[in-house]
Amino acid sequence: MTESFTSDKDRPNHDLLASPNLSLELNGDQFRELVGQAVERLAPFLDSLADQPLQGDAKEIKQQPLPEKPAEFATLLDELFEQRIPQSYNTPSPGYLAYVPGGGLPHAAIADLIADTVNRYVSTWFTAPQLVRLEADVVDWFCRIVGLPDSAGGLLTTGGSLANWIALVTARELGKIDDLRQATVYVSDQAHSSVAKAARLAGVPLANVRSIRSDRLFRICIEDLEKQIADDLKSGLIPLAIVGNAGTTNTGAVDSLESLSRIAQQQNIWFHVDAAYGGFFMLTERGQQAMRGIELADSVTLDPHKGFFLPYGNGCLLVRRKNDLRLAHQESSDYLPEMPDESGRVDFCQISPELSRDLRGLRIWLPLKMHGVEPFRQNLKEKLDLCHWAAKELQLIDGIEIVAQPQLSTLAFRLCRPDDSDEQADAINRLLCDRINESRRILLSPTILNGRFVVRICVLSFRTHFKQLKICLEEIRSAVEQMRVIQLPDTK
Ligand SMILES: Cc1ncc(COP(=O)(O)O)c(C=O)c1O
Repeated sequence: MTESFTSDKDRPNHDLLASPNLSLELNGDQFRELVGQAVERLAPFLDSLADQPLQGDAKEIKQQPLPEKPAEFATLLDELFEQRIPQSYNTPSPGYLAYVPGGGLPHAAIADLIADTVNRYVSTWFTAPQLVRLEADVVDWFCRIVGLPDSAGGLLTTGGSLANWIALVTARELGKIDDLRQATVYVSDQAHSSVAKAARLAGVPLANVRSIRSDRLFRICIEDLEKQIADDLKSGLIPLAIVGNAGTTNTGAVDSLESLSRIAQQQNIWFHVDAAYGGFFMLTERGQQAMRGIELADSVTLDPHKGFFLPYGNGCLLVRRKNDLRLAHQESSDYLPEMPDESGRVDFCQISPELSRDLRGLRIWLPLKMHGVEPFRQNLKEKLDLCHWAAKELQLIDGIEIVAQPQLSTLAFRLCRPDDSDEQADAINRLLCDRINESRRILLSPTILNGRFVVRICVLSFRTHFKQLKICLEEIRSAVEQMRVIQLPDTK
């Protein structure tokens, strides 16, 4: 059919859009120039990471209007590198020991540059089978690391929260519970908040998310769990899922996964393991010891942006039977061809809530193929060693109590001064944490354990080595000395 326009006014103005001011196209040379300019900023940024402060100075933040006029690329880079980026936590720094670090392998940025430029459609097999296979291979490798059987599969997500949610949605879809008001989910009081959120978003009332007491090692109390399940069954409720921890955020505690699996099997309950923090320690013997039973799970959350050192935005859900994901998510549509369930073929849109998506697998595939798995394994072993070393050193400091000994690469401690009340102890430990962080050479984050304020050290970035842990201990010793002489108002 030929185009028909009622008047010249309606005709698209091709010449206008070809003008440099309005065209959005970049030719090869322009692209090379822009990437080159960005790399000119990024290379020195990477080289100076260890010397950059751990926190920036807070300055006024202004909202900007919709830009009507073009701006120079170099000016925008200035805005980013001189104003916006420095005013943040320096999360890729080797001294970042707060929350759960990962570092962010820069290989992923190169992978993204390639993936976003070729912009292939990887949600369906037929549009890019070689690239879908590449990502499915990454998922299969993760299944092998965790020890899941050949029937297993999964998908990459943007993070652990999404993975936990997809796991519970899958449990719900397969559980076929008519009235979700009857469904219950079991977690320990140390579970990450994303698990309760996932249950809620999967349709389980928050009141039915059972927070089971943890023991003195911050692992779920198995007896309490069994009793709660028995009570719930008696009341006519329907247990939907047990969520075990393979490395809690607070202390890195690992639940008795074998016991949880046994209970789940006896009661026919879905067994999910949140291994967002700990999962990749399965590459090490110590990790395999600590997480015995993870391979029995129905589903496992991993966070490559933690223990696989990727930048933020990289999570993963593995399931024991890959078909479960398909049963929970598949849909058909008139505008897409059939996507048959054939062996070797994966259609990500049929096993996940998403349709269009980025080629996330390349971020993992590239560094893993370039280096092989051994440097990842050795890095993780080193993190376990570093955290144990830090625990031993802390024990030598007068007044320091290790509240959580490392089970993986996290520990928690606090300063106990002889005459402080609980409130004073909390106040002094809050000050202690602030004082340590004021150095800006390292960054630690606090949490609450047994109702008391404690300071955590989490060693997980591939950039963190012995040098940073020595600095960390120096800063702690110096801050502790300052705390010894501080007088606080009496709150007894
Ligand atoms: C144990 C655990 N589970 C889940 C999450 C949530 O993961 P994400 O932040 O990737 O959504 C975290 C994040 O720190 C975590 O530590």
